[in-house]
Amino acid sequence: MARRKIKFSSDELARVLVEITGPVDWATLFGRPGPVELDVGCGKGLFLVQATSRDPELNMLGIEWSGRYARAAAERVLKAGVQERVKIARADARHLIAQYIPSQSVRAVHVYFPDPWWKKRHKKRRLFTPEFVAQVARVLQREGQLHIATDVAEYFEVIRNLVGSQREFVEIPPPPPPAGSTDLDYLTHFERKYRLEGRPIYRVSYRRA
Ligand SMILES: C[S@@+](CC[C@H](N)C(=O)[O-])C[C@H]1O[C@@H](n2cnc3c(N)ncnc32)[C@H](O)[C@@H]1O
Repeated sequence: MARRKIKFSSDELARVLVEITGPVDWATLFGRPGPVELDVGCGKGLFLVQATSRDPELNMLGIEWSGRYARAAAERVLKAGVQERVKIARADARHLIAQYIPSQSVRAVHVYFPDPWWKKRHKKRRLFTPEFVAQVARVLQREGQLHIATDVAEYFEVIRNLVGSQREFVEIPPPPPPAGSTDLDYLTHFERKYRLEGRPIYRVSYRRA
């Protein structure tokens, strides 16, 4: 049976889709206290909804530069009723984190299936660079965590070398992936797609020392 599409008004969407143009004060952004985590390149927002549904204290900021995906993620958040705990900024995460996220203010950063940008001339668009890793280290609280998953073995090695060479990060076992028992019991949309295709998925996590 086809799922019924709920239409949300622009006012409702605006409760989730936020524009960040200056240093973020988390309590003001969310209107409540609580730990904050970032989902960088949140796509259609499955992880944002699953994570905040599991942990009612958690506040999550999704950062997504595609307007279409950011809107789809906002609709998913409204449908799940977690709009008080999730905000989504349509922005280049590299810029937003470097410019506007306060130091040591974030409990975890999640980067799931970052675009690999295969072509040589496009590789500079990759998210993981020494600058990005340094910014993640800056915004994480002590003992904060960085979680990464990708289906691209070559990019995985690049990421491990980049993050592993920073003395601020200590590798820890990644959390076990969801069982995949239902259509929504996956980490993210790309995780579901790739697991169903039988592709290997590479996961790594770090603790901010
Ligand atoms: C392959 S998709 C993965 C989406 C989601 N994390 C998932 O696993 O389903 C990569 C996402 O990252 C977004 N993205 C890539 N670079 C970005 C950047 N610099 N800032 C914000 N979003 C970015 C893309 O628009 C895309 O939605």
